[in-house]
Amino acid sequence: MITMQDIIREGHPTLRKIAEEVALPLSKEDLKTGEEMLTFLRNSQDPELAEKYELRGGVGLAAPQLDISKRIIALLVPSNDPEKPEPILNTVMYNPKIISHSVQDACLSDGEGCLSVDRDVPGYVVRHDKITLTYTDSEGILQKKRLKNYEAIVVQHEIDHLNGVMFYDHINSDSPFALKDGVLVIE
Ligand code: NI
Repeated sequence: MITMQDIIREGHPTLRKIAEEVALPLSKEDLKTGEEMLTFLRNSQDPELAEKYELRGGVGLAAPQLDISKRIIALLVPSNDPEKPEPILNTVMYNPKIISHSVQDACLSDGEGCLSVDRDVPGYVVRHDKITLTYTDSEGILQKKRLKNYEAIVVQHEIDHLNGVMFYDHINSDSPFALKDGVLVIE
């Protein structure tokens, strides 16, 4: 099982590499990696398991964070609606690709964090508010999905890891909380 010891931290060169496309049909090895990544996220959100294994809670993980330079991301975004308890995103994406996005930009009011970054880096991380992406799912089926707001931001953070980009690369270091007009701030 994946624990924090398996996650590489900023400064490791793999986090700055462009990850390789995953070969199709999906290999057993790549499927196993994806499954383990999703299990890590599930464990990290379980209070007992997170405490027992000292896991930091996460909603997304990218294979390069495990020093596997491949285009695989896992997402587990819990619901915030008690009427609809199933997670908003609960999936592994192979070769995810943003094919279009809104003109509207958005950022999270609390900034972003990363399992590969053991410090707070305050500041707005401005991203697209809405994205349309394609990816291959664990069944080997090509999927197309539209996402907005928080889910769209999480996916963009993870896809950045496939391109060697860290969230703080987007923060304006001179004035981290300066925003252009019209950027949606998501609470
Ligand atoms: Ni990250």
